[in-house]
Amino acid sequence: MSQHSERSAGAAPQGRDRLIIFDTTLRDGEQSPGASMTRDEKLRIARALERMRVDVIEAGFPIASPDDFEAVRAVARAVRESRVCGLARALERDIDRAAEALREAAAPRIHTFIATSPIHMERKLRMRPEQVLERAVEAVRRARRYTDDVEFSPEDAARSEPDFLCRVIEAVIEAGATTINIPDTVGYSLPDQFGELIRTLLERVPNAHRAVFSVHCHNDLGLAVANSLAAVRAGARQVECTINGLGERAGNAALEEVVMAVRTRRDVFPCDTGVDTTQIVPVSRLVSSITGFPVQPNKAIVGANAFAHESGIHQDGVLKSRETYEIMRPEDVGWTANRIVLGKHSGRNAFRTRLRELGIEFESEEALNEAFARFKELADKKHEIYDEDLQALVTDTALALENERIQLLYCRVCSETGEIPEARVVLRIDGQERSTTAQGDGPVDATFKAIEALVQARTQLLLYSVNAITTGTDSQGEVTVRLERGGRIVNGQGADTDIVVASAKAYVNALNKMLAPAPRAHPQL
Ligand code: KIV
Ligand code: ZN
Repeated sequence: MSQHSERSAGAAPQGRDRLIIFDTTLRDGEQSPGASMTRDEKLRIARALERMRVDVIEAGFPIASPDDFEAVRAVARAVRESRVCGLARALERDIDRAAEALREAAAPRIHTFIATSPIHMERKLRMRPEQVLERAVEAVRRARRYTDDVEFSPEDAARSEPDFLCRVIEAVIEAGATTINIPDTVGYSLPDQFGELIRTLLERVPNAHRAVFSVHCHNDLGLAVANSLAAVRAGARQVECTINGLGERAGNAALEEVVMAVRTRRDVFPCDTGVDTTQIVPVSRLVSSITGFPVQPNKAIVGANAFAHESGIHQDGVLKSRETYEIMRPEDVGWTANRIVLGKHSGRNAFRTRLRELGIEFESEEALNEAFARFKELADKKHEIYDEDLQALVTDTALALENERIQLLYCRVCSETGEIPEARVVLRIDGQERSTTAQGDGPVDATFKAIEALVQARTQLLLYSVNAITTGTDSQGEVTVRLERGGRIVNGQGADTDIVVASAKAYVNALNKMLAPAPRAHPQL
């Protein structure tokens, strides 16, 4: 692959380079505590990323666990338009496993890495620099046996000695690496420093012109996007990022911010992405609803307030001429006014058609039928159904079809002024119907106590949050529940017009995740 050619649609206009967008929501994003996703959830996100025309989807770390392997394999099978990438440490067994998971991909990429900073080499790897260099070259050679698209990352590059970094990069390009990714693994760099590092590497590595230079920035100091953009100005032509900036610790560079900065400031960036920006808000919502990580209202591009003008002066200006206070158009990133799309009398065809327009396809007729039945139930309770309702409904249906160990069958709550709230809950646990009644400090507390009495999972509740999906008091409530047990953190979601039911669904969803076996290796240990 040449420096700027890409398989995705939309070549960059003449005289301008292509900026490759490498999305790692399914790999680094999933390393956020509590953000682990099932195979089907990953598949849904991968399809949405493909529709958004990201160039490369890093689907996971196949050696981490059988589930991770299967998820990468499923994404590799399903995605045809974007490259699909699997992560591997610089170890033969990791690379072979990644290659196996990617076997059916239309355009597979193996991403292999090893740390090059003194602190990581000495204290984590306990290897000498010469050994690290040798291992890096061997890993790239092995990956090249399987594909001609091999990416190499010198982990913790931002804290590595530039001379050693140059030697490693030159050697791995010689061994066949086609993309060199420079990570700021711990989010330590500042934009001018990081830009300078990229400039230095491009100048000093003699064969640098034979590879695409990429960056992967973490957000520990809130600088991931700024560092990535400084690197692009210095000559990097791939940015690794995640939807909503999800990722290890404080996260990675947010895809939506990188893409919109490059697009809005074409005057300073000599490159364009191939991303269909109108998909940004729907994909952001999808990732938020699957992971249970809400988007803060003032988050750039995808936050609820990103285009809301509160002050009278601003509103007046925008009414006279949008450009007075808006540098981007909300519709260009996929914001639509809450639109009533369907109602009680809408048929199956209208339902399927609207979901297709939102980019949602069902795996099976069974899933479509189940979703349509739920839609009818919702339309009975709520007369106006918006796109946001449909998205929540699809997530809810997918959860219900997952054959989970615990299923919520029934929930009734009595709450009255001056009385102690009481909840009756019926669950099916491993095929057996069980019911109980419990009292609590409020209706949600009583419901959770009843569920816990039946399941006895002994988890600790870390977070409980409710969001209205749309405006109006008939809006569905979307609930996120975060649980912890023995150091393991999981998130659960549920949506319903009744927030107590939504809460019960979210709690049961989190418990199912907690009870699923999940031993997995972490790539950076
Ligand atoms: O942050 C990091 O260094 C990584 C590498 C695996 C690229 O995620
Ligand atoms: Zn990372």
